[in-house]
Amino acid sequence: MIIAVDGTLASGKGTIAKALAKAFGLAHLDTGALYRATGVAVVEAGGDPTDPDAAEHAARTLDVEAIDEAKIRTAEAGLNASIVAAQPRVRQALFELQRGFAARPGGAVLDGRDIGTVICPDADVKLYVDADPSVRAERRWKELTAKGETVALATIAKQLAERDARDSGRADAPMRAADDAVLLDTSQLSIDAAVSAAIRIVSDKTGTQ
Ligand code: DC
Repeated sequence: MIIAVDGTLASGKGTIAKALAKAFGLAHLDTGALYRATGVAVVEAGGDPTDPDAAEHAARTLDVEAIDEAKIRTAEAGLNASIVAAQPRVRQALFELQRGFAARPGGAVLDGRDIGTVICPDADVKLYVDADPSVRAERRWKELTAKGETVALATIAKQLAERDARDSGRADAPMRAADDAVLLDTSQLSIDAAVSAAIRIVSDKTGTQ
């Protein structure tokens, strides 16, 4: 079974994808982490994330096992991820890796922006998770503040709008719901309620408990 979970930044898609993997005994790949790690690698090599050569090289030489969670979760890493993700050569470089993961025999949950549309168009279940921008900005602000980053809520709201615009406005594999995706709006839902709703959708679609 393959489950594709796409959606906007801080919609809860990552938490939902992880919980679905656990509930249905599937492997999980957070594909955003690949773009984040690519951006971090470019910067660490002294390069510029807007430079297609540097970004493609970083994507092609990415060591997935060595991804440093702390480094890729900063606001700056998120911004650079969105910049490298807009480049077709970067997306191409990370394509096979994602396809390979999805093809593992035990099945998989992948979360990202283009899983249902480009990476796994034949996924058994496709979810598109979204929430109001103000709710998402507050969630992301709380997350970053809890980690000790000092940043104003208004700054986060502005960055979020910029990243939404870049992710959905790019020509190559823009963020969008697949035509056959089930939409899940988490604006009014607690984490537990959102996870329960997602599990119900997958169970209903696949007849699995
Ligand atoms: O989900 P996230 O915030 O970790 O994603 C980081 C960036 O990577 C985001 O700006 C969009 C991009 N991304 C993408 O273009 N395609 C994916 N499948 C996953 C993430």
